[in-house]
Amino acid sequence: MAESNNDFRYAVGPSKVPWYAVGEFYNGGDVKEFVKFLLPDTDKPGYADAYAKVCQDIEALAAVSGKAMKLTMGDKVNEAEAAAKETFGSKYAILTNCWTSGMEVAYKFSGLKAGDEVIMPAITFIATMAYPLHIGAKVVFADVDPVTLNLDPADVERKITPKTKMIVPVHLGGYPVDMDPIMELAKKHGLYVMEDCAHGMGGKYKGKYLGTIGHFGGFSLHEVKNITSMGEGGILLTDQDFAGKQFNSSRFLGLDASRQIKDWLYDIVSLRDRFGNVQIAGNYSITEIQALGLKLQMARLNDIIAQRRKAAEYTNAVLSQEDGILVEKQDTADTFGTHHLYLLRIDPAKVGGDIRQLEKKLKEKGLTNITHFGPMYRFQVMKDMGYNEDEIAATCPNTERMFYTAYTHLPIYNLTQEQVEYQANAVVEAVREMKAGK
Ligand SMILES: Cc1ncc(COP(=O)(O)O)c(C=O)c1O
Repeated sequence: MAESNNDFRYAVGPSKVPWYAVGEFYNGGDVKEFVKFLLPDTDKPGYADAYAKVCQDIEALAAVSGKAMKLTMGDKVNEAEAAAKETFGSKYAILTNCWTSGMEVAYKFSGLKAGDEVIMPAITFIATMAYPLHIGAKVVFADVDPVTLNLDPADVERKITPKTKMIVPVHLGGYPVDMDPIMELAKKHGLYVMEDCAHGMGGKYKGKYLGTIGHFGGFSLHEVKNITSMGEGGILLTDQDFAGKQFNSSRFLGLDASRQIKDWLYDIVSLRDRFGNVQIAGNYSITEIQALGLKLQMARLNDIIAQRRKAAEYTNAVLSQEDGILVEKQDTADTFGTHHLYLLRIDPAKVGGDIRQLEKKLKEKGLTNITHFGPMYRFQVMKDMGYNEDEIAATCPNTERMFYTAYTHLPIYNLTQEQVEYQANAVVEAVREMKAGK
C-alpha cells in the first residue's frame, strides 16, 4: 500500500476470470438516476424535454461504453490526494470517509491514550472531541476569544498540566486561529497540535495554509463545508514522516501491500504512534466518485472563497453602520479567512436585549440564523462521563457570555446579491426595533 491506494481486490494481475467478477457495477439506467439526483427535477419549463434527451444520449453512450469497475480507493483517490498535497503544500495527504475519521487517525498517531489531557476550544462541534472521549482521554476546554470565538492561546497556557498531550485549535467559521503562540506552547511542553480546519479549507495564517501549521491538520468535506466530496469526506495532512509513511495502511485496517506474508497478497501492520506504541488501524476508505467530486470542487476553491469574502465584506459594511452590532474581524496582514459562516455579534447593553431576542426577530423576518456551535461542556454526554459543567463554565467566562448573550451565525454563500442585502438590512432593522423597545 506504500505507493498506491489500491485496496488490492483488483490488483491480482491479468486473468480470464477476473477477481472483480464478484461485485455489481453501475449501468446506464443507474446513471440516468444519478443525473436526475445531481441536477434535480424542477418546475421550470424545459426540464422534462432536456432530461428525456439526456436519457437518450446516456442509453446510446451506455451501449458503447465500458463500466467503472474500480469504485473505491483507486486512481481517483490517488489523484485527489496528489492535488491536495500540491494545493496546500503538504508532504502527505490522505482522503478519509469524513473528517471525524481523519482526526481519529491523527489522534492515534499523536499517541493519545486514556488519562491524557487534550486542550480544545469550548466552542466547537462534538466531532473534535469524539475520539478523546471514546478512549477515556480528558478533554480540557480553553475559553474563547470574544472577537473570533477561536480558542484563546492565553487560556490554553493556563490549562496545560503535566498530563496534557495535545492542543487542538479549531479555525471556527474559517477565521484563522493565532497559531504562533499555540506552536510555541507545543514546543515548550512537547505537545502535538492538530488543527481542526473543518471550516478552514483554503484559509491561511502567515502565508501558510491552515492545516499545515500543526503536526496534523485537515478538512471536512461534509456537504455544508467550503467544498464537498459528494456529501461526506475528509482530508488529513501532515509533514511528519513517521505518520505520512503509514498513512495508507492507517486508513485501511493496516493493510500493507508493499510487504506480504507467505502465500498471501499483503501484510497487516499496526499503526505506530509517535512514541512507537502499537495502535490499531480502522477502515476510513473513501470512494472513487467522492474523490472525483472533490477534485472538481477543489479546482474552484479560490473562486468560492472570493464569493464568500465579497458577501461578508458587504455585510460588514452594512452592519458597521449600526452601533451595538459588532462586525466580523477583518483579515490582518497575517490572516486569510475562508468566511465559512458569518459571525454576527452584538453588544447586548447597547442593543437593549440579547442574541436570543435578536434571533427571534430575525426568524420573523425570514432569516435562517443558527448559533451553529455551542459550549461542549453543556451536553448530556459530558455529564454522563463525569464532567462538571458548572465548574468548567466558571473557567470559560467568554464562552458563557458570548453563547448566551452575544453571537449567532449567518449563512453567507450561494446567496444572490438581493439575499445578501436583505439579510444585512434585516439585521439592522431588527436591532433598531430592539433599541426602540419593540
Ligand atoms: C468544527 C468541526 N469539526 C469537525 C467536524 C467533523 O467533520 P465531518 O462531518 O466531516 O466528520 C465538523 C463538521 O461539521 C466541524 O464543524
